[in-house]
Amino acid sequence: MRTTTAVAQIVVRLFGLILIILGLFFWSGHALQLVNAHMLIGLLFVIALWVLAGVAIAAHQSGGLIALGFIWGIVVLALGMTQRTLMQGSAHWVIQVLHLFVGLIAMGIGDKLAKGIKGAAAAAP
Ligand code: HEM
Repeated sequence: MRTTTAVAQIVVRLFGLILIILGLFFWSGHALQLVNAHMLIGLLFVIALWVLAGVAIAAHQSGGLIALGFIWGIVVLALGMTQRTLMQGSAHWVIQVLHLFVGLIAMGIGDKLAKGIKGAAAAAP
């Protein structure tokens, strides 16, 4: 459980950082050939978030945070998959900012889940 949590937490942090960096390139009109790679890394990021939520169930963590982890993963994927088609035109920046914040919140949820699991493991006899 500890190894799974540690690996999933590293994936959430590292892939989250890579997604932000790639996204900032896209934002400025660069590296657009890497959008598919960004989407694949995004999918792996969400799977790691779900793994943390799954381990948190086994570690008897807060049901609300666990539910949020699963639901937020779906939100990240749903927004990411439809990103390019939403509010095309001059208002598209709203979707871009939303996409970034939805991702940042997902990173925060992942970190919180991992901290809760580690805390429970440390408190266990
Ligand atoms: C932690 C998760 C993520 C973060 C922090 C993130 C960040 C970003 C940022 C900053 C941008 C540039 C601004 C924009 O166009 O919105 C971007 C673009 C994009 N992202 Fe993500 N992203 C994440 C996950 C995902 C996922 C899971 C998918 C798809 C399954 C995805 C698909 C896209 C697409 C299609 C674009 C638009 C590229 C373009 O402008 O042509 N992202 N992302």
